[in-house]
Amino acid sequence: MQHYLQFTDLEPDQYAYLFERAHVIKRKFKAYERHQTLADRTLVMIFEKASTRTRVSFEAGMYQLGGTVVHLTTADSQLGRAEPIEDSARVISRMVDLVMIRTFEQSKIERFAAHSRVPVINGLTNEFHPCQILADIFTFIEHRGSIKGKTIAWVGDGNNMANTWLQAAELLDFTVHVSTPHGYEVNEETAGIAGRIRADRYQIYNNPVDACRDADLVTTDVWTSMGFEAENEARKKAFAAWCVNAEMMAAAKPNALFMHCLPAHRGEEVTTDVIDGPQSVVWEEAENRMHVQKALMEYLLLGRVD
Ligand code: CP
Ligand code: NVA
Repeated sequence: MQHYLQFTDLEPDQYAYLFERAHVIKRKFKAYERHQTLADRTLVMIFEKASTRTRVSFEAGMYQLGGTVVHLTTADSQLGRAEPIEDSARVISRMVDLVMIRTFEQSKIERFAAHSRVPVINGLTNEFHPCQILADIFTFIEHRGSIKGKTIAWVGDGNNMANTWLQAAELLDFTVHVSTPHGYEVNEETAGIAGRIRADRYQIYNNPVDACRDADLVTTDVWTSMGFEAENEARKKAFAAWCVNAEMMAAAKPNALFMHCLPAHRGEEVTTDVIDGPQSVVWEEAENRMHVQKALMEYLLLGRVD
């Protein structure tokens, strides 16, 4: 049984398959062709944090695949009344085929997976957001071809998105330029890249404009992630210079793309002219969550279906 708890859970050849499969699934969706490979299968989605894209993409995606979905939150389930996560996993996984969880600590999803009879997908934790990077790389490939050897500029928080980009860089062989404010650096142990990633695949810059130089893709995220709201005011001060703007985009390659996992705060981590400008692919990036996750769910339940 294969779980998808962090980006390194799959191998490069499995990613190559998933990206190909997502192309097929997306093409069929656009042509209104049925693609119901998961008929009679059930997905449970557990949300301990808010969501728009993750919920809609998994829920719509599973229905399109012919399956059904159960939606649980902390507030409306026994998870919010301290039922152990291990017991929840044992019970839920006897009734369904697949589980997607959005929660706080990575250790929580790992404990769930360790007691689950069915595959578990990470829909975002404090440490990782692998489904988002899956969609981002798929979007990059659609526009620019293989990501191998390319340069991604990460401007902002050393958070779950940054960690996952770095795992992907190690696995799929591209470079990430990282610029974070002091005190918000990537923790290499938490990211799972300590002693693993090639030095030239992970480069740190104090100045975000330098990080963007010659990049093929510039990307950022909110200054304050879910669960860190108490730090909001301190973060607003610390991150003021980490706003992706026209100067940063001008430092990147002329055909550089801009991505943001969304939701975005215009005027904070990105200017309106950049996110709504010609280099931005954020709406396709969001849509692609659904296509890649359909490929992922199909793969975790059926394996390769060439
Ligand atoms: N990007 C992303 O995961 O969005 P949601 O928080 O809306 O699910
Ligand atoms: N880093 C953000 C991503 C939201 C999709 C968060 O964890 O809140």
